[in-house]
Amino acid sequence: MTLSPEAEAARRRTFAIISHPDAGKTTLTENLLLAGGAIRLAGAVRARGERRRTTSDWMKIERDRGISVSASVMTFEHDDRVFNLLDTPGHEDFSEDTYRTLTAADSAVMVLDAAKGIEPQTLKLFEVCRLRDIPIITFINKMDREAQDPFALLDEIEQKLALTAAPLYWPQGSGDRFRGMRDLRNGEFVGYRRVVAADGGVSFETGRVGGNVEAEIMDDAERAELAEHAEMASGVCAPFDRRSFREGHLTPVVFGTALRHFGVRELLAVIGEEAPSPRDQKAWVKGEETTVGADRDEVTGFIFKIQANMDPNHRDRIAFLRLVSGRFQRGMRLKTAAGKQVNIHAPVMFLAQDREIAEEAYGGDVIGVPNHGALRVGDALSESGTLQFQGIPNFAPEILRRARVKDPMKAKHLRKALEGLAEEGVTQLFTPTLGSDMIVGAVGQLQIEVMAERVATENNLEVVFEPAPYNVARWIGCDDREKLEAFLEKNRGATGTDLDGAPVYLAKNAWDVGYVSEKNPDIRFTKTKER
Ligand code: G4P
Repeated sequence: MTLSPEAEAARRRTFAIISHPDAGKTTLTENLLLAGGAIRLAGAVRARGERRRTTSDWMKIERDRGISVSASVMTFEHDDRVFNLLDTPGHEDFSEDTYRTLTAADSAVMVLDAAKGIEPQTLKLFEVCRLRDIPIITFINKMDREAQDPFALLDEIEQKLALTAAPLYWPQGSGDRFRGMRDLRNGEFVGYRRVVAADGGVSFETGRVGGNVEAEIMDDAERAELAEHAEMASGVCAPFDRRSFREGHLTPVVFGTALRHFGVRELLAVIGEEAPSPRDQKAWVKGEETTVGADRDEVTGFIFKIQANMDPNHRDRIAFLRLVSGRFQRGMRLKTAAGKQVNIHAPVMFLAQDREIAEEAYGGDVIGVPNHGALRVGDALSESGTLQFQGIPNFAPEILRRARVKDPMKAKHLRKALEGLAEEGVTQLFTPTLGSDMIVGAVGQLQIEVMAERVATENNLEVVFEPAPYNVARWIGCDDREKLEAFLEKNRGATGTDLDGAPVYLAKNAWDVGYVSEKNPDIRFTKTKER
């Protein structure tokens, strides 16, 4: 049966997982793929130790499992729904990649370590989600270890995130005394049992169980405690409310242990049943502000990420296109708002086991568009070419460095290399109005490291990164063209342009920005640049 593009979009769930490092994002990703039937190798042995420096969960999984998953999205079909799981970089450093990926997500799963609760990185990522009103489902992981009291954990979510926490399940015990959880909506018990075989091997049984088995798993005292706490939770915690969740005010909470594959099916069910299908996106069409939803006939989408060299044999670039509407078919021609035409002969879809050519895709899906640098992050693609989506920002860098190549004859090479990396969004590149400096900017230190390594290995250039004469960059704008030009003229020593030629103010410190903006009330100094 062929569904309409709108109905196809309605069965899609495009989501990302956010967490502080070590809370279990990779393990959960893997187990969600298992629960969704996307991969089958349960319990493969993982390489220890050397996983730390990888920048992507997929890379880790790929290495650990020996399957090809070097992609930024994994798609799997389960229970008549299509799940698109977006990868967000898993390192401690905060990068723009993460922000951008979240622009393509309709919901997010926030993984907390049950012993640690909300950690700094969780908080940062949560704030990005809140900025974009992305609904969040909370998964409290590692219940197989000693955990904090569940009431305290929920209270912490409410206090630190100003988000109502609505437990869908209530756990019994933790660590060695973890027994499972009660579904607060229908009273069913999802049991967790450690089984020791005759040969001493330990395994874990999990699943919904009836009264008899429940009594085998928990003793009378535990059953009484669970009954009491579940009742208390139902009384004092907010009930789940779909609307409030989708508006970003409430988070449903599921407990589990990703490592033991407990709670993962329940989490997947919550994503399928409660998380929103592709949301409407704000856009400009012929200068008019409008919203584009899955009910629009035209194929539309936006580029949220560009990745180079996914295939080491080809210097190709893959632009990740998040579709918003329409029925995309292979071979289609789409246009950017600037009128650039892109023929998509060989779109790539990222199915769990392999890359495959996408024949069709719908709102919510992500397809890879191979290109040689024609596409940029933030570009909209549509059949009509009349459309530009809002809200895919560049972020002001927190680190600025002056790049210099040891052999001055190679300065042009370096500029080209840095421009390429800036097009991909690895780092930003600023050109001061005066002089010939190349100033690179990054949100996190790791971005600088990735850039330095890529310039060295891909371009064979010996580059030095020195402290820059500036520490802060802000985009500048003004409704009055003449005023802006006068400002730029007067501040030639402290201004420049970004890769797209947009004017930036380069300052020594934040105080300097404050001072100058006070003196020039008509000029806007912004930390983000939206296209
Ligand atoms: P991350 O991507 O969020 O950084 O976390 P990751 O999944 O890599 O998990 C971090 C560590 O926590 C791993 O242990 C992983 O096995 C463990 N872990 C994840 N989920 C659970 C869980 O539910 N229960 C328990 N007990 N541990 C869990 P590691 O020793 O660092 O790595 P490994 O050698 O075991 O792979």
